[in-house]
Amino acid sequence: MSGMDDWLTRPAGPLCGRLRVPGDKSISHRAMMLGALSDGVCRVSGFLEGEDTLATAAAFRAMGVRIEADGPGRRIVHGVGIDGLRAPGAPIDCGNAGTGMRLLAGLLAGQRFDSVLTGDESLSKRPMRRVTEPLARMGARIDTGDGGRPPLRVYGGQHLRGGDFELPVASAQVKSALLLAGLYARGTTTVREPHPTRDYTERMLASLGWPIEFSPGFARLDGGHRLRAADLAVPSDFSSAAFFLVAASIVPGSELVLEAVGMNPRRTGLLDALRLMGASIVELNRREEGGEPVADLRVCHAPLHGIEVPVALVPDMIDEFPALFVAATQASGVTVVRGAAELRVKESDRIAVMAEGLRSMGARIDETPDGAVIHGGTRLNGGEVTAHHDHRIAMSFVVAGQVAATTVRIHGCSTVATSFPGFPALASGCGMGLAAEA
Ligand code: S3P
Repeated sequence: MSGMDDWLTRPAGPLCGRLRVPGDKSISHRAMMLGALSDGVCRVSGFLEGEDTLATAAAFRAMGVRIEADGPGRRIVHGVGIDGLRAPGAPIDCGNAGTGMRLLAGLLAGQRFDSVLTGDESLSKRPMRRVTEPLARMGARIDTGDGGRPPLRVYGGQHLRGGDFELPVASAQVKSALLLAGLYARGTTTVREPHPTRDYTERMLASLGWPIEFSPGFARLDGGHRLRAADLAVPSDFSSAAFFLVAASIVPGSELVLEAVGMNPRRTGLLDALRLMGASIVELNRREEGGEPVADLRVCHAPLHGIEVPVALVPDMIDEFPALFVAATQASGVTVVRGAAELRVKESDRIAVMAEGLRSMGARIDETPDGAVIHGGTRLNGGEVTAHHDHRIAMSFVVAGQVAATTVRIHGCSTVATSFPGFPALASGCGMGLAAEA
């Protein structure tokens, strides 16, 4: 069903059970990239079998890296060393993945060969100058398509040099692109962020033995070292767990346990926001897996109230706003989101698309340039919405459908497989009303 483009939801009774969502998308991309550049064999577990991360694995196979699948979520990456990649015979198709394309732009800028990066319709509309411009300051040569958009043509054989970058937007993708180029640069590459973002590139480089200094909002490394191989365990993706956290919070009588969810503080902003709204979410069995904090999360239905989402939380929940918008429609009072203009350049314009869909279901939402004002306490109607081929929008509308008065037909759901291929089965398994369109 996840391959079908239209989904139909029906209102749900209480959600219950225990479930484990798939591996983290951000970490899975990086495991393929850094595993490929290491000296030796990296065994990866918990790898996300999603289209985005499969595209990244295929990119490295095309550049001569042997990657074997020895079970679901398991990969054996035979690293070729920092200078061992070969020219791909054809353009590299990054699919829907902004992370894949932007990080690869940095990594490929340091190679001896030329390469071309392409993407699907949604990725082809996304801004790339945010990476190509700072990379050019390191000596990279990258051509973009019209308006700074994909495809990217990356010229090899350039002599990169380090630099000190103060980023204008809080973006882990931009930071990571610069750090990956920095592996190949002469001298020191320093990145400073306006707000700290996820630090998976820094952590994984350190765990593979590359000398790196980092703290929230800051990272610095020198070129010219090597990566040693190590086993990499990928925790469950907090962003995938988010849909279940919101669904169980708003469907009366629900109680769900989400197992082994990645709890990196740069990812869990939604937890803080939902708790400020009155949600009942308890962390059980907090522990470390693969160098990342994880916990089982028990979420029970609770009455929510509107909040002003603290701007400092925005980067830590940047992918979770579509789900938060749904929660806000069910909260009493008003929820205000500000400082989140980045939502307009994700897989879709997530402010516009959520406002359009939820409004058509009867919600009251005022869009602002960098956020929205959501008037809660709405009994949503059923109807028809479109996810604009954005995976997180589709799953958020599924959650909204659970509390709607009647069925909701959602167009454009096939991209859910980019980040969460098993979503329909897990969602139905815990009691959500979800089926392929009749
Ligand atoms: C990601 C960073 C974020 C996030 C994306 C994954 C990453 O993007 O939205 O889903 O893996 O580095 P930005 O860097 O554009 O904020």
